[in-house]
Amino acid sequence: MDIQRANKDHPSYTLTIAPDLKGVPETMLWALYNRAAEARRPDALMADPLAIQIADAIEYDYARSFGRPESGQVIRALLTDQILRAWVQDHPGGQVVALGEGLETQFHRVDDGHVRWLAVDLPEAIAIRSLFLPDSDRHHNLACSALDLRWMEAVNPHQGVFVTAVGLLKYFHPQDVHRLIAAIAERYATVEMVFDVMPHFLVRLTQAGWYRRTPHYTAPAMYWGLNRNELSTLQTLHPNITEVREIDFRGGRGVRYRIILPLLRRLPWIGNFLFSLVHILCRPCKDNHFS
Ligand SMILES: C[S@@+](CC[C@H](N)C(=O)[O-])C[C@H]1O[C@@H](n2cnc3c(N)ncnc32)[C@H](O)[C@@H]1O
Repeated sequence: MDIQRANKDHPSYTLTIAPDLKGVPETMLWALYNRAAEARRPDALMADPLAIQIADAIEYDYARSFGRPESGQVIRALLTDQILRAWVQDHPGGQVVALGEGLETQFHRVDDGHVRWLAVDLPEAIAIRSLFLPDSDRHHNLACSALDLRWMEAVNPHQGVFVTAVGLLKYFHPQDVHRLIAAIAERYATVEMVFDVMPHFLVRLTQAGWYRRTPHYTAPAMYWGLNRNELSTLQTLHPNITEVREIDFRGGRGVRYRIILPLLRRLPWIGNFLFSLVHILCRPCKDNHFS
């Protein structure tokens, strides 16, 4: 990572960085790019000045790699914000654990002045995150794989725990995803989780290297996916999982997000082959159901 040059245009940051990211860590720039592009619009769906500042301070040709900005990752972030805001209100001083947090600025979007935030990511991602979003009283960065459960030692579970894994689990192998979800459900008496899920066909396309965003960027291979009609199987991963909810993925910009995808989602068979956002609730109790 090159952190040599002063960035005169952005006085809040004294450095422009040129990250040397590859594979899945590079995808954190993709998500940042989309959120920052949305936040820049006069009719923005999401206010996120920090995302704009960080995106501008990173020397990276976003458009060359990722093409035109898209709203999928923005809707994903907005819907997660909504769920987290409600949870934060019900759990004053609760602990959010953001696995694979990259350069997400969600802490700043949902902070109520009490929530505690643990951002967990790989060392190369945390090295960059810490430059822009350093540790503070209630926000901590931890360089640790989500699959290395030692991150649990940094969690304070007393006011409730909420785990996000947005843009992450699809890059893991199925047995690792199952183990991770089960371990979280086992460890905390009361915990909720949110993560996105890709359909099997898209996972296979990425393995064949066919998810090419631009001539200069091919998305990394994914390994875990579920079709929408299989989401209820998540409940079998641990007896403490009491409810699996699919979040209605609505909103966004353009014909694709406003018309085509919502229409496809309603179709009986084809609607199963779309991505989804899932909210899992865990309580040590028996009356489990899927909605
Ligand atoms: C698509 S980005 C998502 C970033 C962020 N959640 C967002 O929505 O902006 C995927 C993130 O997962 C992180 N990641 C990849 N493997 C990981 C692992 N084993 N443990 C923790 N984070 C990981 C990457 O470094 C990257 O920051």
